[in-house]
Amino acid sequence: MTERKSAPPDPSRRRLIRGALALGGAAAIPATARAAGDPAITELQPWMQYLGDGVDARPYGMPSEHEVDVVRRDVPWLTADPVSSVNFTPLHKLDGIITPNGLCFERHHGGVAEVDPAVHRLMINGLVDKPLVFTMEDIKRFPRVNRLYFLECAANSGMEWRGAQLNGCQFTHGMVHCVMYTGVPLRFLLEEAGLKPGAAWIMPEGADASAMTRSIPMEKALDDCLVAFAMNGEALRPEQGYPLRVVVPGWEGNMWVKWLRRIEVGDQPWHHREETSKYTDLMASGKARRFTWEMDIKSVITNPSPQAPITHGKGHTVLTGLAWSGRGTVDRVDVSLDGGRNWQSARIDGPSLPMALHRFYYEFDWDGAPLLLQSRAIDSAGHVQPTKKALRTARGENSIYHNNGIQTWHVLKTGEVENVEVS
Ligand code: MTE
Ligand code: CO
Repeated sequence: MTERKSAPPDPSRRRLIRGALALGGAAAIPATARAAGDPAITELQPWMQYLGDGVDARPYGMPSEHEVDVVRRDVPWLTADPVSSVNFTPLHKLDGIITPNGLCFERHHGGVAEVDPAVHRLMINGLVDKPLVFTMEDIKRFPRVNRLYFLECAANSGMEWRGAQLNGCQFTHGMVHCVMYTGVPLRFLLEEAGLKPGAAWIMPEGADASAMTRSIPMEKALDDCLVAFAMNGEALRPEQGYPLRVVVPGWEGNMWVKWLRRIEVGDQPWHHREETSKYTDLMASGKARRFTWEMDIKSVITNPSPQAPITHGKGHTVLTGLAWSGRGTVDRVDVSLDGGRNWQSARIDGPSLPMALHRFYYEFDWDGAPLLLQSRAIDSAGHVQPTKKALRTARGENSIYHNNGIQTWHVLKTGEVENVEVS
């Protein structure tokens, strides 16, 4: 699944310049010298010879045509039908910590519901003083907040439980995205309805054909859950639950019900399909763990990776990746170039927000020898990302969900990268 590579620069035309950036001692950054006669400099390019499109040629702006391969992708053999399926965020093509709306992975159990917001309603019923029905306009009259959170499907990396399988971080780790949500704290809506004594759980329900439901404990619902209508400043995309979804910070993506139409309040969990036959972890004992809501500390190197090989040859190389924890912020990310024997601290850059993606970088001089790249994250609650071996020792081999083991990428002499495991 290696993608089209750009031609490596001619080494005879390269020279080292002194790096203007003082990044942790990185002294020299290689630059490709543009020798006299380089047509990229001497010749007028087409875009310099003609006027471009005026304003409004693209009323809704789209990426450059040169970025056409920056798209969500699916793995066709993974599911029987695209309607109950998943596609993956192209993590290897992104930087920073915000996922662009059009690139957020999609996970639907009954396809994308195309909801008309004018006739969309949110009902709150069950153990409440006053059952309520809100229009979208009603919801937007409550005080709202802005919060950046990652959403990770509990099945992210699930295909890797029994060994290295998929060749690219898009496929091994791409069931995660991180956007800025605008929404109303769920607490405000529940308080408006008034909780009856014994109200201990809520059950959000989706308006899609799958009518997704999950039980959420009241403590979480009143703490930091949102009913969100916007992502990254604009209305939710249909794929992400337009016009309304639940945001359950740090907890498994399945609970973030999209196309939210109803919230039932009860005194116990409902034990529906998505918390019994699915989203449970079958342990070696033959018993299944249930209600494993938090997404554990995890990280992955996004570049280099199988879809993002090293194309510039030896020398200064920027390694980057993502880390996240459902239990707080990421305090530290260590990087190993030799399969976990030696570790160096990576540099986390950008905001470090609880239950949001963190971006890390590690700049190094590649000598052209094969590498075994790993990253290991540590969160503010003190949890250290485990090796896959440690994870299997604790959990057995029957799991699908909650695989947060350390990923290894094998960089070959050619700069190509493979998904491997080291013991
Ligand atoms: N909500 C509804 N109504 N229907 C669904 O199929 N899928 C769930 C959850 N909420 C789903 C849903 C699952 S398993 C995940 S991982 C997330 O939505 C995915 O959210 P996304 O499609 O915005 O990435
Ligand atoms: Co999911």
